Amino acid sequence: FRIPDPRNEPVLSYAPGTPERAALKARLAELSSREIEIPLVIGGREVRTGRIAEVRVPHRHGQRLARFHQAGPAEVQAAIEAALEARKTWSAMPPHDRAAVLLKAADLLAGPWRQTLNAATMLGQSKTPYQAEIDSACEIIDFWRWNPHFMERMHHDQPVSPPGQWNRTEYRALEGFVFAVTPFNFTSIAANLPTAPALMGNTVVWKPASSAIYSAWHVMKVLEAAGLPPGVINFVPGPGRAVGDPALGSADLAGLHFTGSTGVFQQMWRTIGENLPRYHGYPRIVGETGGKDFVFVHPSADVDASATALVRGAFEYQGQKCSAASRAYVPESLWPQLRERLLGMVAEIKMGEVEDFTTFMGAVIDRGAFDSIRKHIGVARASSQAKILAGGGCDDSKGFFVEPTVIETVNPHFKLMEEEIFGPVLTVYVYADIRLDEALELCSTTSPYGLTGAIFARDRDAVADLTRRLADTAGNFYVNDKPTGAVVGQQPFGGARASGTNDKAGSIANLYRWVSIRSIKETF
Ligand code: SER
Repeated sequence: FRIPDPRNEPVLSYAPGTPERAALKARLAELSSREIEIPLVIGGREVRTGRIAEVRVPHRHGQRLARFHQAGPAEVQAAIEAALEARKTWSAMPPHDRAAVLLKAADLLAGPWRQTLNAATMLGQSKTPYQAEIDSACEIIDFWRWNPHFMERMHHDQPVSPPGQWNRTEYRALEGFVFAVTPFNFTSIAANLPTAPALMGNTVVWKPASSAIYSAWHVMKVLEAAGLPPGVINFVPGPGRAVGDPALGSADLAGLHFTGSTGVFQQMWRTIGENLPRYHGYPRIVGETGGKDFVFVHPSADVDASATALVRGAFEYQGQKCSAASRAYVPESLWPQLRERLLGMVAEIKMGEVEDFTTFMGAVIDRGAFDSIRKHIGVARASSQAKILAGGGCDDSKGFFVEPTVIETVNPHFKLMEEEIFGPVLTVYVYADIRLDEALELCSTTSPYGLTGAIFARDRDAVADLTRRLADTAGNFYVNDKPTGAVVGQQPFGGARASGTNDKAGSIANLYRWVSIRSIKETF
């Protein structure tokens, strides 16, 4: 067998008059016209608990999209049992047959399901057509095509056998189940976190974020349509602790695949530590958490390119990417020009309903996010050390809208330079050109995170120097590009420090975490 060589799924344009725009509009109208009820899926069977929560459209919160059933400890226990039962056959299945399910799911998503999932992501998470397309179409398709390819490469990695021996490496599923906990901001992360361990033969209990249940449910449907056997991935939405505690407390926990906040990840790690005596082994812990991602502009930088990167990095998807640019270091020699360019572009940003194909920014995800971002902007408003140069307005009358906001501070340790905000807020610190070394030191040490970062410089020596001196600051480091938008197979994604375990989503490194390797020596 050979897995087909993966290629990255091309991004469709959705320009006026294209068939994809017509198809997406039709799906948006259809999904918007009816409310659905979302059950749990345990062992392939739909389960309704009657403990209902609802999904609303973030940019039009008067509209309810769905009601969903929530799991509690009993359903989590049933999901664990279903996973363990399914594991018996799934883990024994030849790897290529497991891969076939994901390859087929990728094809379904590239074809008939594409606009359904894009529409679901636009409505449920307030993504523009372009942001939906790169996430819920292209990135998921890429995960589902590249991971089988990485698995095949892993299986080819075998030891040598001297005469009289046959040595083999067997890549086995972990013993137990994997608990996948996924965030609201990327449908692709929701699709990858349960399926990567499943591809390696594991079975999964999946808790999607309550604020992104709508697209997560459609991901589950694509996987079912592709032939995923019952019980391999069990869909159990619900409150964090009600689902998390019984899952982490189970003796059969074999791994945690998590993306979300640093605080929740640390709490889960502690819980796993406390529960260690009950487990059969040491659960694998893989997590991607927060970021306070930077753009560092060198005096030799191209001003236009830097401004574009700041706008796209900070404001696409309302700044709700863990990779979003949220702090910038700019030399005073370039600041007047860069500031003018930046503010000019920000003034042109169109914010509103994402179904209008010319919108650049939709709403933030929910009331909690809206309140928290507004509070952070309030800190800048009240401080003598900061000035709001653009935006700052928040309006929740129809949807959770926060204007693209640019803040300048004279204090490199200002709260907004250090804390993750997860919203459309960019804070800029202007440094004296002659104090470049100090600015680099600040960039490297100000934040506890290490997820993404970008430098802008045209001087080749500066590129080399900054790349070396900022080595520990970002698991994904960009030279003359924005710090967002990693592509599977091109830039494996993940960060260190407080940003996570850096097990690179969309790479062979991630898949190694989901296997327990057996070395077999046979003597002839
Ligand atoms: N992979 C996304 C990006 O690079 C973040 O999760 O923007």
